[in-house]
Parts: sequence; structure tokens; C-alpha cells
Amino acid sequence: MVEVVTYLTKQHREVEGMLNKAVDCKNDPQKRLELFKEAADHLALHLESEEQVLFPAVKAAKTKDILMESLEEHLSLKRLMVDLMALDPKDETFEPKLKVLAEQAEHHHGEEEEDLFPKLKKGVPQDERERLAAEMDALQKRMDKQKAQPRNIVKGETDAAATI
Ligand SMILES: [Fe+2]
Ligand SMILES: [Fe+2]
Repeated sequence: MVEVVTYLTKQHREVEGMLNKAVDCKNDPQKRLELFKEAADHLALHLESEEQVLFPAVKAAKTKDILMESLEEHLSLKRLMVDLMALDPKDETFEPKLKVLAEQAEHHHGEEEEDLFPKLKKGVPQDERERLAAEMDALQKRMDKQKAQPRNIVKGETDAAATI
């Protein structure tokens, strides 16, 4: 198993690719909706595994501020996803909301990669980082199997940021 920073960074690029594909799909609202749903399923599983496995495991004085900010950014991403899920892809607000989701996801990934991941690489031993990646991967696969539409997981999580 790869270690957790490599594992999550790869997922960041994959989700960004999917979201940008949806943004670029200008002339086919139905296709755009399908692309958004696919991205939202992946993003939901990614966020859940960070909140349930990674963040609690690396919670420490040194990471507290970064994790708190990350959780607020997750909340914002979830709200945008839930808004988009309720919208007709032909609605005039669908495209701007989708663009904001893509931009915010990219910004959030950048912050994790610049602020959090270097700390993990320095402070968490390789074997523990490998164990965390395996645990997160198992959780994502389990949730993916349980739910036909993993994106729906975030529907009940838009009132406040998750606590870790
Ligand atoms: Fe995150
Ligand atoms: Fe992430």
C-alpha cells in the first residue's frame, strides 16, 4: 500500500480532473450532471475518510489550526455539492456553482498539500502512514459498496463542520 500523502494527493488530482471535465462540458447539461455526480461520489468518500480516519489520527497541537480550517472547508464543499445535487443542470446557477466547487476543491487540496501533508511526512513514520492509507482505502471501499450514491452521505452534514 502507498503511504497516505501519496494516496490522498493522487485522489486530489483525480477529483480535480473530474470536476474540470464537468465544468468544461458546456453544451450537454445531462452529461454535465453525470460528470458532476461522479466527481461528487469520489469527493464525498475522500472527505469522509479524512474526517473519520486521518484527521483524528493526526490531531495534535501542531496540526490543530490546519485541521480546523480543513473541516470548515469540507463543510463549504459539502454545502456546494448538496446545492448542486438539488439543481436542474439547465438552471442558470448550476454552472457558476459548479465552477465555485471546482475552485474551492482545488484551493482546499492546495492547502492540505502545502500545510498539512509536509507535517505528516515529517512527523508520522512511514509504516504508520501506510497503515493510515490502508485504513482510509478500506473505509472508502466499504462506504462505496454500502451506498449506491456515496455523494448522498454529505446531505446530513451541512449544518456544521465535522468534529474530530
Ligand atoms: Fe480535505
Ligand atoms: Fe484531501
